[in-house]
Amino acid sequence: MVNQEDKFKKVISHAKEYGYVFQSSEIYDGLSAVYDYAQNGAELKKNIRDYWWKAMVQMHDNIVGIDAAIFMHPTTWKASGHVDAFNDPLIDNKDSKKRYRADVLIEEHCAKIEAKIDKEVEKAEKRFGDAFDKTQFLATNQRVVEYQEKINATLSRMAKSLENEDLADVKALIEELEIADPLTGSRNWTEVKQFNLMFGTKIGASAENSMDLYLRPETAQGIFVNFLNVQKSGRLKIPFGIAQTGKAFRNEIVARQFIFRMREFEQMEMQFFIKPGTQVEWYNHWKETRLKWHLSLGMGGENYRFHDHEKLAHYADAACDIEFKFPFGFKELEGIHSRTDFDLSQHEKFSGKKLQYFDPEENKSYVPYVLETSIGLDRMFLAVFSNSLVEEELENGTTRTVLKLPSVLAPVKAAILPLVKKDGLPEIAKQIADDLKWDFNVDYDEKDAVGRRYRRQDANGTPFCITVDHDTLNDNTVTIRHRDSMEQQRVKIEDLRNIIKLEVDVRSWLMKM
Ligand code: GAP
Repeated sequence: MVNQEDKFKKVISHAKEYGYVFQSSEIYDGLSAVYDYAQNGAELKKNIRDYWWKAMVQMHDNIVGIDAAIFMHPTTWKASGHVDAFNDPLIDNKDSKKRYRADVLIEEHCAKIEAKIDKEVEKAEKRFGDAFDKTQFLATNQRVVEYQEKINATLSRMAKSLENEDLADVKALIEELEIADPLTGSRNWTEVKQFNLMFGTKIGASAENSMDLYLRPETAQGIFVNFLNVQKSGRLKIPFGIAQTGKAFRNEIVARQFIFRMREFEQMEMQFFIKPGTQVEWYNHWKETRLKWHLSLGMGGENYRFHDHEKLAHYADAACDIEFKFPFGFKELEGIHSRTDFDLSQHEKFSGKKLQYFDPEENKSYVPYVLETSIGLDRMFLAVFSNSLVEEELENGTTRTVLKLPSVLAPVKAAILPLVKKDGLPEIAKQIADDLKWDFNVDYDEKDAVGRRYRRQDANGTPFCITVDHDTLNDNTVTIRHRDSMEQQRVKIEDLRNIIKLEVDVRSWLMKM
């Protein structure tokens, strides 16, 4: 059995080998927590973005999409609270000189206890077989209950200390839990300090005229400052949403875990503007809707869970994460936040401009409340990619590596393969590829034996291989091979488009929502 660490290493090396993700500026030894998407990665990322945009923007009559600039007036970040409060608690190890996020050290300590619970469950499952009742076991097994209580107590104390800015207590907690530097085992820690995550830059040609700017740490503020422009020009009525996708930048302290935590990343966010007082209803609505979107991709309901925030951000009155089971355990994939009227009110205050909505039904103006859904595109990429990568034992005793990407997201939908490089087969295969190109991203591949080409396409995540052989010359039929089942069918060339469409069409996937 492959352990989690090995599985994660495999994910990273597979992403490189098959042209999905490269370390940025690799020839200069890379840049920490910055990555480039390669030929297949760019397609997969685009397909995920499109899948989100279709579901969130185009399928909703009351949600529109925008594309705001990355640079924003610096007062934006004063108003939003990021200048004063967008901090992470950091701690240095005096011996190793390594820097860590204090909250992450504590969370990782809890994750280790959680792994012990999983082990107990696994053992009990084996012992009791079919009669095993997991819920009852978790609630009654004394050791497991104690582990869970320890986790709850630790996380809630940490949340309280962070909320109260009591950094001395965060350090005390690290010491009480005997947390050591994961790299060296040293427990020689500095005090915990706050560290602002925004990157600063300058705009303007000369030193006298230049202005200090920040690279945006979230896309949300581009929506808030445009709220009234969009509402008026679109004649939108509350409730309505504004969505956008785009780059965000954070000077993360913990820059490990591949594309999970990056310094430059992409967000897909939607701010839903509502009548004050209706936020609980909309919070529940968007929790449910977003989970359904995830489940529509068929990556297994057991891989998702909600996690309610104990420590609320400065703008929220309720918040939760949708967590996904990554190769390194359950971690945040998406956030759903009830942001109250915090952002619009702050922008009113700092800009001196009214950001209110006249409600014709109520016959009065008010600052709307906001429900936000915010997902990291790169994190979603990692969720999809890592979940899809499997090693399969075949009946003949061999194994194959297959990337079982949801076919709607796969970068290449079909590979067209002439059985041999002669007898007119390449010409027919190229003709088929040229025709299918109008509807799908396809690949033409004539190198190596056909079996090896199948394996290559399996590892690449291509849902269909279409093989042109000598029978094609007589009857215009080809073999179509399905990636997951490896089943092969003989079909007419003219039917290929419909067969592929049925499997990869966004409509059929989103209809599952
Ligand atoms: N506008 C709200 C907001 O930005 P967040 O929880 O800080 O909320 C939302 O971020 C999502 O953005 C997260 O759930 C995660 O998927 C993604 N994200 C945040 N920081 C990231 C990072 N450093 N690298 C990759 N993705 C990140």
